[in-house]
Amino acid sequence: MSSTSAVGRIGLAPMEGVIDVITRDLLTARGGFDWVVTEFVRVTDTRLPPRVFHRLCPELAAGAATPSGTPVHLQLLGSNPEKLGDNARHAAELGAPCIDMNFGCPAKTVNRHDGGASLLQTPRRVEAAVAGVHRALEGSGIPVTAKLRLGFEDKRLAVDCARAAEAGGAASLVVHARTRREGYRPPAHWRWVRRIRQRVGIDTVVNGDIWTLEEYQRARAISGCRHVMLGRAALADPLLAARIHHWQATGEVLPATRWQDRCAILEEYARRAGRAVPDKVVVSLLKQWLNIMRQHDREAGERFVELRRIRELTPFLTALGAPLVAQAEDTPPPRQPA
Ligand SMILES: Cc1cc2nc3c(=O)[nH]c(=O)nc-3n(C[C@H](O)[C@H](O)[C@H](O)COP(=O)(O)O)c2cc1C
Repeated sequence: MSSTSAVGRIGLAPMEGVIDVITRDLLTARGGFDWVVTEFVRVTDTRLPPRVFHRLCPELAAGAATPSGTPVHLQLLGSNPEKLGDNARHAAELGAPCIDMNFGCPAKTVNRHDGGASLLQTPRRVEAAVAGVHRALEGSGIPVTAKLRLGFEDKRLAVDCARAAEAGGAASLVVHARTRREGYRPPAHWRWVRRIRQRVGIDTVVNGDIWTLEEYQRARAISGCRHVMLGRAALADPLLAARIHHWQATGEVLPATRWQDRCAILEEYARRAGRAVPDKVVVSLLKQWLNIMRQHDREAGERFVELRRIRELTPFLTALGAPLVAQAEDTPPPRQPA
């Protein structure tokens, strides 16, 4: 067995405003994910009340795992080592099994307030932030991990930042293989993740643009990483992690996920989200999900075009599950019995 075919773990990426407690449950229930990460909890200069942690990580009330038993890591975003440490300790007391730190968020408002990817401009600040959390968790057995991009404007400090996170006490790294400037534009630079991996002594997880089993195999081969994290692809193809897992276990390549299976997950999401938010919000959440799905799926793209003007939930769901108009027109009428 080559090193890249050794069984690797798969994480579900944090995605603010997109991957919430319901999505985490729906996606992990399909199998394949070994851990998930919450949307970021923003730390400024206060100790946040428990309700903030519980709002972003309701799983804290249930052993900090999804109903399928997948551990939920809690992500913090901030720059003040002492306050990060204070809040990390608090999150750990509330039951978080691991504290992940966000050094990747590209949002201008976040970066202006000195958080996310902006810290990548100064590796010693990455180290200080991780060390603040590491110190606060000392003796608790709860690890701190870091999620980084390759840099802010360019990749010059990519290795330095990764080494800084390690020096601060990070137990492992996830590297989204793009700079902040590169946003989400392909390609993801998996080769750069290899450079990082070769220069640190902790596990490095490759992330970015892994949309298919083939890309999973290539990302691992090019980066040399054993473990991966899936973000948008987990939404585009909710069975991808399970398919990768199946391939790892058996060598068998399962067929692509059918539209009916994707649709079933969207419908389930709508049912559950509908208990918490108004129908109109559910429709826009579904459109957001479909918009990510269509990036790599022709049928989802055609559906998106058909559905984007519908604002009411019931007609939206009816159209979601119905045959495509174009397809229905192409399909010959059923033959009359003789
Ligand atoms: C809408 C959106 C929200 C995101 N929110 C977060 C976040 O809260 N924390 C974080 O570390 N990364 C966040 N990310 C980055 C993803 O975790 C991931 O690194 C990125 O999407 C690349 O992986 P992918 O190509 O598999 O999607 C977000 C990405 C998107 C598209």
